[in-house]
This record gives sequence, C-alpha cells and structure tokens, in this order.
Amino acid sequence: MSTRLRDGLTHRLLIALCAAELLVVGALAHAAEPMTSEPVMPTPDMRAPLPLQEALSWPLPDHDSAKALGNVTCASSTCHGSIKPWKNSHVLQNEYVTWTHLDKHARSLEVLANERSRKIAQKLGIGDPMRAKICLDCHTDNRAEATRGPRYDPADGIGCEACHGAAENYISSHVAPGATHADNLAHGMYPVDDAAARARLCLSCHFGNRDKLVTHRIMGAGHPRISFELETYSMIEPAHFRLRSDDAQHTLLFDGARIWAVGQAIDVENRMDILLDVKRNHDGIFPELVLFDCHACHHPMSDLRWSQRTAFGPSLSPGVVRLNDSSMLMIAAFAHQLDPALGERVRNAAAALEAATAGQGDLVPAAQTMKALAMDVAQRIARTPFDRAMLYGITLTLIDEGLAGNYVDYAGAEQMTMAISSLLDFGSREGWLENGANINAQISGLDSLLANDEHYPREQFQNRLKTLRATLTRQS
Ligand code: HEC
Ligand code: HEC
Ligand code: HEC
Ligand code: HEC
Repeated sequence: MSTRLRDGLTHRLLIALCAAELLVVGALAHAAEPMTSEPVMPTPDMRAPLPLQEALSWPLPDHDSAKALGNVTCASSTCHGSIKPWKNSHVLQNEYVTWTHLDKHARSLEVLANERSRKIAQKLGIGDPMRAKICLDCHTDNRAEATRGPRYDPADGIGCEACHGAAENYISSHVAPGATHADNLAHGMYPVDDAAARARLCLSCHFGNRDKLVTHRIMGAGHPRISFELETYSMIEPAHFRLRSDDAQHTLLFDGARIWAVGQAIDVENRMDILLDVKRNHDGIFPELVLFDCHACHHPMSDLRWSQRTAFGPSLSPGVVRLNDSSMLMIAAFAHQLDPALGERVRNAAAALEAATAGQGDLVPAAQTMKALAMDVAQRIARTPFDRAMLYGITLTLIDEGLAGNYVDYAGAEQMTMAISSLLDFGSREGWLENGANINAQISGLDSLLANDEHYPREQFQNRLKTLRATLTRQS
C-alpha cells in the first residue's frame, strides 16, 4: 500500500472522532476563515440513488459528446477558484485550490514524464509515454479531438471535467438561480454523487474497463499494482466537497458503508465485464491475468502456501491459479445480511465461476450469472440504509472469513483492511462504536502489517483480527 493510503487509514477514524469540520476542506483551506458573502450557487435538492441501469449506462466523461472547456473555465475566484471556502454557499468554491495543491490527479500527466514511466514505455516499445494513448487514457482527460474546447489543456491532467463531465452544456445553467442537481445532470454533468456511477468512473482508471486497462503486460513492464476501494479512495482524495455531517441537506454526500458496499458490487460487475470481453478473455492461455490473484503466481516456490479455502464450497486443488475474488467474498457477506437466499446464490455463482476458471465448466455463462447477481446486489444495497445490526453483522462476517483463511493472500488482506476501516469509520460517525481510539489503533495495526506485499505476516494478521473480533463482539 502506498504511504498516502496508510496515512489515510491511520488518521481517518481519529479525525472523525475529533472534529468533523477538519475533514471538510483540505489542509490548506481549513487554516483560513471562511469568506462570508452571498452564495453564487443555487441550493441543492435531495438526492436519491439513480436506477442502476441508468448509472451504468451514463456516458463516462471521456465519452462525452459535449466539449470540455478546461480547468481555467472553472477556476475564477467567484466560481471554484476561491482561496477560502465560502460560508453561505452550498459548495466550498475553493475546489480548484484544493485540487491544484493537494490532489494527485493534478499531477497525473507529469507522472508520465518520470523515469519509471520512460522505462515502462521502453519495455513495451510504445515510444514517448507522454504521447502514448494507452497511458494518456488514464493519466489525462483523454477525450476525442472534436470534444476539446479552445481552452482544453492536456496539461490539466485529470481535471474537473474528467470526473464531472464536459461543461459545454452545463457551464451557464449550473449557476442559474433555482438550478437543481437534476437540471445539471440533464445538461451533461456526470453523477459523481451516485455511488454506482462513481464506482464505475473511478474504476475506469483505478482498474480499467473494456476500453482501457492496466493489463498484466503493462504491470510486467513495471507499472505499480493497482489497489482500489471506493470509499477509502473517496476519503483519501483531498476532499473538495462537504461531508454529510456538515450540512443536513447533503444526506447522500457521505454514506460510507453504502459507498463501500456499492463499490464492491460494481467492482464484481466490472471484473465480469472484462472477463466476458472477447478482446480480453484470452491473453495466451489465460483470461487477462490482472483478474487473478497476483500472489497466487508471484511467490517463491519454497513458500508452500496452499491451504483449504472453502468460502465458495469445496476448495480448488493445489496448483491452480485463483481469481482475485475478494470483492465476490464481500458482496456474498452483505448479500447474506440482506437476504440469506441471495447470499447463497452469490456463493454458488462464485463457486461455479472459480471452478470454470480452473477448467471445470463453462466460463461465459458462469461470468454472466455472476455479473447479473452483482447488479442485483448493487441495486438492493444502494437502497438499504445500514443500521447498527447490519454494520456489526457484516464486519464480523468479514473478520470470521478472514480467520477461516478466505482472504489468505495479500490483496485479500488489503481489501479486508480497507473494508473494515470503511465500515467502522462509518459506525463511528453514526455513534455506534465505543472507544473509537482503541479500534482505530487496531486498524492501524492491521494496516502496518501490509507494508510489504511480498512478505506480509499472515499469522500476525490473523492474530490481530482475533483481537479486533473480541473487541467488536463485546460492543455489538
Ligand atoms: C487503466 C488506467 C491506467 C493505464 C492504462 C495506465 N495507468 Fe499508470 N496509473 C494508473 C493509476 C490509477 C495509478 C495510481 C495508482 C495508485 O496510486 O493507487 C497509476 C500510477 C502510475 C505510476 C506511478 C505514479 C506515482 O505517483 O508513483 C506510473 C509511473 C504510471 N502509472 C505510468 C503509466 C504508464 C507509463 C502507462 C502507459 C504504459 C500507464 N501508467 C498506464 C492508471 C493507469
Ligand atoms: C477524481 C475525480 C474528481 C475530480 C478530478 C474533481 N472532482 Fe469534484 N467531486 C468529485 C466527487 C467524487 C465529489 C463528491 C460528490 C458527492 O458525494 O456528491 C465531488 C464534488 C464536487 C463538488 C460538490 C458538489 C455538491 O453538489 O456538493 C464540486 C462543486 C466539485 N466537485 C467541483 C470540482 C472542481 C471545480 C474540480 C476541478 C478543480 C473538481 N471538482 C475535480 C470528484 C472529482
Ligand atoms: C481519468 C482517470 C482517473 C479517474 C477517472 C480517477 N482517477 Fe484517481 N488517479 C488516477 C491516476 C493516474 C492517479 C495517479 C496520479 C499520480 O500518481 O500522480 C490517481 C490517483 C488517485 C489517488 C491518490 C492515490 C495515492 O496513492 O495517493 C486517489 C486517492 C484517487 N486517485 C482517487 C480517485 C477517486 C475516488 C476517483 C473517482 C471519484 C478517481 N480517483 C478517479 C486516475 C484517475
Ligand atoms: C498466472 C500467473 C500470474 C498471475 C496471476 C500474475 N502474474 Fe505477473 N507474471 C507472471 C509471469 C509468468 C511473468 C513473467 C515472468 C518473467 O518474464 O520472468 C510475470 C511477470 C510479472 C512482472 C514482471 C516481473 C519481472 O521479473 O520483470 C510483474 C511486475 C508482475 N508480473 C506483476 C503482477 C501483478 C501485479 C499481478 C496481479 C494483478 C500479476 N503479476 C499476476 C505470472 C503471473
């Protein structure tokens, strides 16, 4: 895990326990007094999740047909380029400053000029990475020539419109008096507030989709392994927006446990989509290797780590490559809380899929079934408020599965840590946890064992899970 990510996990519960306002604006902005002036932005309406089909078929910003106007268009001081947040405006208005100073997306193009990128490009034989479409597609807002307005600038990296959609048709309407969120969406703004739509957007770069992917070949050339979890990454991206606790009207701005859950379901849906893509599903003898557990192949032969792993029925035999199935395990856990029969269907579908990738059964129908189920689960979880019982139920199930050895490999342990952290952070905000500082320290303890993916101490990780389980059981 990157240092930034560790910092995020380490500090977030503590921050939540101290003062919610501190999280609202990046380190820069909260040092300053808010500006008091008339808001220039309209008041938001309440937001409900979009119908899932709509969220999944919304054109991603890089497929917009409208023109992108460039960051400079958003950055004036009376719009989103204020130095300090505005007190009476429902949006902070210093988003641009937070983004330029604190957000890594602002420097995503520069990365392609560094030594590591040059080496990757050289090994792949793709010439200058600053000009290679395969890299630019994720490291900038790489949209069709015809949709680049006069002030569009690739040097913006991943700017406002790479996430919020090309502004041509909403630039004037979104500041018109009385404009609602629905109006903005109708004018081409991307629904980043919707968990499923956001998951699809972030995953398009933080994993890939049918159009772009950090393939095993790109990783083999030296690209970092991608690790992503929607809620954690939404939290560690320096916030240029307000969280729910700061504004009663923004009930859906921060709904951590649900964002985590929907993110997992959309992760499964997206993986199945890639598995089913004829362009990707045969890279030599295997479907694309990034869909598998990296450490199933990448470890010394003397390290005999195979063990029974019965999460989805009878264990696969030793010597078989396993899918990276942590998101399937997670959705099985919360589907079970929603409806035990649904949980059972997810488990059976995952078992059939794992068997099929190991040569027993047909891969395509198995992946199709899993994809349909993941969408069903996403749909239901997006509409179900998490209550205390559900939060504890899911967290304890995840821990029990970890103790049963179902997240044996590093990537699973990493996902487990991010999941527990997202869930308990939410529980702490809702006031459902006692002694948050102790729990926070325990999460940091788990996280610190993940510092090196080649040598992560499995047994210690399990021991710490046991301690956390005991603490949570006392409170639940
Ligand atoms: C599917 C999207 C995608 C593609 C394609 C892609 N990248 Fe990346 N790249 C990412 C993401 C996302 C990260 C950040 C990962 C993180 O920090 O969690 C990243 C990180 C990196 C880093 C490390 C950055 C740092 O701050 O240390 C380098 C270097 C890099 N990419 C170079 C490349 C090059 C060169 C190419 C083209 C061969 C490429 N990438 C293609 C998405 C992509
Ligand atoms: C990496 C993706 C990403 C980038 C880049 C990005 N944003 Fe955002 N933005 C988000 C997300 C996610 C939210 C939170 C949405 C929610 O929960 O309602 C958000 C929220 C906002 C909000 C608050 C909306 C509301 O109704 O409360 C504003 C305003 C905003 N962004 C403006 C900007 C501006 C201006 C830029 C460029 C300087 C920018 N964003 C860059 C992802 C992004
Ligand atoms: C157009 C592609 C793209 C999209 C869309 C995108 N990202 Fe990124 N993101 C990147 C790249 C590339 C990097 C690495 C930049 C670097 O290392 O300088 C990155 C870096 C990050 C980081 C910093 C990670 C670290 O290791 O410090 C966070 C956090 C993050 N993204 C969150 C998000 C979230 C949340 C969303 C969705 C709202 C999102 N990103 C959408 C491409 C994207
Ligand atoms: C089915 C087995 C398998 C899986 C799963 C797998 N890899 Fe690989 N990986 C290989 C093989 C084979 C090579 C080529 C080794 C060589 O050329 O010496 C390789 C090479 C690499 C290399 C370059 C190593 C070198 O010596 O240059 C990296 C980095 C890498 N893989 C990362 C990953 C990551 C990250 C994942 C998970 C997303 C992953 N691999 C999943 C089999 C696998």
